[in-house]
Amino acid sequence: MCGIVGYVGKQNAVSIILEGLKRLEYRGYDSAGVCVEKGRKLDLVKKAGRVDNLAKAVAKHRLAGTTGIGHTRWATHGGVTDENAHPHVSSDEKFALIHNGVIENYAQIKTFLSGKGYTFQSETDTEVLCNLIAYHYAKEPARTKGHSRFVESVRKTLRHVEGTYGIAVLCVDFPGEIVGARKASPLILGVGDNEYILASDASALVSRTQNVVYLKDGEIVHLTPKNFSISTLDQADVSPVVDKITWSIADSELGKHTHFMEKEIFEQPTALENAMRGRFSADGSTAQFGGLNITASEFREMERFMFCACGTAWHACLVTEHLIERFARIPVEVDYASEFRYRNSPLDARTLFFVMSQSGETIDTLAALREAKRKGYRVMAVNNVVGSSIAREADGGIYQHVGPEVGVASTKAFTSQLLIGAMIALYVARMRDMSFSDGVGYVNALKGAPDLVRKTLKQAAKIKVIAKKYAGYNDMLFLGRLSLFPLALEGALKLKEISYIHAEGYPAAEMKHGPIALVSEKCPSVFFAPKGEIFSKIVSSMQEIKARKGPIIAITTEGSDLPKGVADDVIEIPECHEAVLPIVAAIPIQLLSYYIAVERGCDVDKPRNLAKSVTVE
Ligand code: F6R
Repeated sequence: MCGIVGYVGKQNAVSIILEGLKRLEYRGYDSAGVCVEKGRKLDLVKKAGRVDNLAKAVAKHRLAGTTGIGHTRWATHGGVTDENAHPHVSSDEKFALIHNGVIENYAQIKTFLSGKGYTFQSETDTEVLCNLIAYHYAKEPARTKGHSRFVESVRKTLRHVEGTYGIAVLCVDFPGEIVGARKASPLILGVGDNEYILASDASALVSRTQNVVYLKDGEIVHLTPKNFSISTLDQADVSPVVDKITWSIADSELGKHTHFMEKEIFEQPTALENAMRGRFSADGSTAQFGGLNITASEFREMERFMFCACGTAWHACLVTEHLIERFARIPVEVDYASEFRYRNSPLDARTLFFVMSQSGETIDTLAALREAKRKGYRVMAVNNVVGSSIAREADGGIYQHVGPEVGVASTKAFTSQLLIGAMIALYVARMRDMSFSDGVGYVNALKGAPDLVRKTLKQAAKIKVIAKKYAGYNDMLFLGRLSLFPLALEGALKLKEISYIHAEGYPAAEMKHGPIALVSEKCPSVFFAPKGEIFSKIVSSMQEIKARKGPIIAITTEGSDLPKGVADDVIEIPECHEAVLPIVAAIPIQLLSYYIAVERGCDVDKPRNLAKSVTVE
């Protein structure tokens, strides 16, 4: 949440920062600002609203300079106003600062600083940081051995701060320099050609360099026009490791699509191919993973798995639970990361702990990982963003390899999580009692998933027509059973987050225990009704809805013999293996939600109140 960009170099910092902010807008889009240091003065423009709004104000102001910082905000403390937008400037006008995170003890710091004569212009927690830096700077001797007064003032400040932060700071006394630091909020340094870019997300710097240093928690980076250095809060020097970003700017651009969500829905066949590449054994009967850092026999010893995640990733964990229990016969528990972290759940020595997170920065999932590690468990991460906090802190893991996901509503990350969950189920099942030939059948089914998704995507035009018909409703139900119950939850989440239609997901047979009271001609239901053992039970649930005049959209497998007239609209998906079914079934609900949201005129990629990657609690 919130996007940060800082630039030190020879080019026009303002245009580079604005371009970066535009790419970071998916992380927060209620206000934005840029500040440059020029001639030992800070020049600042900030505005409530989108980055485009800021760009106009910046052009009018003729803001220019070669060192600067910029921010796009997702409000936590204080409403959406020009004053609350970042950067914030200290009351002595020496420091400007941008911040991603939450300062939990800001009230005490504010009281302390007010007593010392510092003044505040905003309602944010962030503003205390620049004033506390100014306070320490005023007290700091002119030169501290080996480190500049600027860096030391930031270091002293951060030692007094409770909470989370990714920050970048300018100081008028140090032209051409930026100090950045992080704790539980991502910060990446791009090492370019005679320039450095500091950003909360690689997408803001990949157009200028693919060489990056992923800063760790508790590290402070000092950028000057000629070099950079990294040290810790305890003043220890850190030798930087320069990594290479493996994707390019084209991967994070819209291309021919109207929205990133649309682009990412249609990218799914390729994304799935990338997620499974090199991950099947040579004999074609099981999965293999390079980064687990746990031997096959250690894996075999595990008697229980625990999965933690948030939102869409949590839905992927629920499907994974179903597949592992079904095929590997090992008990699995799935918990919301936000609950697990405070629940003091009992875990035993033979439990393997997994977290799933597209961004690898979701604060609750990171906290769950840390809690599990604190208790001595080995933690595996299923994660998309290379170098993310979760990837770095986990003991081992599986990368999703689907490239950057920019649309706030997760799509390709979700189906790749489903795929990896299905592969984990296969891996464990083949260690236990799944036969060689069943393993080969399972592997071939997974290999066929991208083509089945391709085929399902061909229904887009038909689903668009259905979406137009249902776009005017205010309530909707999503119903599924077994591995498609989590898909019902996912369908409801997708619809509500981008179209603002109230939607709920339920196991179809639970309807009679309460939710059926909602059914009327004004509340349509989306049913997952695939061919299979309990098809007739699902049809009975549909009849019960129909009898109460509820409109029905059925998502069924080809040739399922759905009784005529039971559904108002039918979307057919190809028949497939149980492990592939949730992946294929995800496509119609993604397309339906997307087209309904477009029909309602919603800003699909920037839904209200949301932002990609929830880095605050
Ligand atoms: C919904 C969505 C969110 C995320 C959740 C976890 O479309 O994207 O529910 O799934 O915030 O995010 P990650 O996977 O980054 O931990």
